[in-house]
Amino acid sequence: MIGGHGSLATEHPIKTIGSFWPYATTLYDYIHRAMPLNAPQSLTPDEVYSLVAWLLHHNSIIPADMIIDAQTLPAVKMPNRGGFVPDPRPDVPGH
Ligand code: HEM
Repeated sequence: MIGGHGSLATEHPIKTIGSFWPYATTLYDYIHRAMPLNAPQSLTPDEVYSLVAWLLHHNSIIPADMIIDAQTLPAVKMPNRGGFVPDPRPDVPGH
């Protein structure tokens, strides 16, 4: 979940939340819904925000003393935010 920065365009891309995920808020959502795998939805919102902050800091995306909450998290810009492009091809041929 940490590292891989700058590796996406290389021969061996390492897709982590830090190198790949376009939105920081997905972290809250994913951890809140699915983690820890052996006890999903057992964490309080504060605990989830703390884990999100820890992961973002260790991916060098936020400083160690930044408070992550419902106001600040949506403003965090992920490094690969600009790395996704829409696919203009129609879902169904001929439409
Ligand atoms: C509270 C502690 C935990 C946090 C914050 C956490 C966070 C995460 C996050 C952010 C991902 C997505 C990673 C990615 O797709 O790049 C993930 C995936 C995963 N985690 Fe956790 N995790 C926690 C505990 C655990 C535990 C205890 C287990 C195993 C018992 C576990 C097993 C998994 C597995 C198997 C995946 C991959 C799921 C998939 O790709 O379908 N996690 N976790």
